[in-house]
Amino acid sequence: MRAYLNGQYLDKADAKLSVDDRGFVFGDGIYEVYRAIDGELFEAERHHRRLEHGLEALRLPRPTEADAGTLHGIALRLLRENGHDTGEATVYVQVTRGAAPRAHVFPPADTAPTVFVTTYPFKGFADLRRTGATVITQPDVRWLRCNIKTVQLLPNVLAKQAAAEAGALEALLVRADGTVTEGTHTNLFAVLDDELRTHPTTELILPGVTRAVVLELAHELGIPVREEAITEEELGQCEELFLTGTTTDVMPVVSCDGRIVGAGVPGAIAMRLHDALVARMGGVGAR
Ligand code: PDD
Repeated sequence: MRAYLNGQYLDKADAKLSVDDRGFVFGDGIYEVYRAIDGELFEAERHHRRLEHGLEALRLPRPTEADAGTLHGIALRLLRENGHDTGEATVYVQVTRGAAPRAHVFPPADTAPTVFVTTYPFKGFADLRRTGATVITQPDVRWLRCNIKTVQLLPNVLAKQAAAEAGALEALLVRADGTVTEGTHTNLFAVLDDELRTHPTTELILPGVTRAVVLELAHELGIPVREEAITEEELGQCEELFLTGTTTDVMPVVSCDGRIVGAGVPGAIAMRLHDALVARMGGVGAR
């Protein structure tokens, strides 16, 4: 697999980082995951805006590769070199504060940020979508700036592992006050009283690109939406529950913590939105 690291295209096996890299030592960096369909990036502008926001929020030095056209060019070249320019793939971008002797304080201003880009093949969850996914709940113990897509993902990793060990696809994260925020790598939607509900874009969730597209599609389809968090109690009362994300599309949830959700089958609203999302992706998104 080919990758881009700090100005060079090389085999991923040859891409080497300093052990002083602040991404390694402090998790001091951000990342982005784009969806590529037949060599084109889906909603590239939105992903790029979020990357820019992350750079600013963490006061990371802005690498030249952060220029939208430059990054796009790197992604397209890697998709081609990796044979991912037909069918589906993801593009992974990571920027860290670069390599410097370990000290919490920012390194000298001339420290070059580390920029890493690669692509991965992508296969959707078409089979699972037909039956619907199961999820569990886990305490949301993350920091209070979840709107920034940092590479510090330990709470997400531990919660996702708990889900995997329970035979579930995803863990829904619940704050101490009972607010359900999102999944470990997905946003969460519920249908309650025929209304679509999802957590508002505060610092408690990542503002998902798929979430934003699904909200647009819901408006187009005339589905009423309320951007208000659901509570743990409401999890047991919803007509439908579904996840959204770049690597998940729209995934209906049929069971949560061992309890059946709604009718126990993929919900009609979730499937309508999934079909609309696939259409928006040009009809070739994972069905
Ligand atoms: N995760 N919430 C969290 C915590 C996420 O990490 C993600 C994405 C989402 C969905 O956002 P989007 O629709 O923009 O993909 C929500 C990526 C895919 C990942 O970590 O692999």
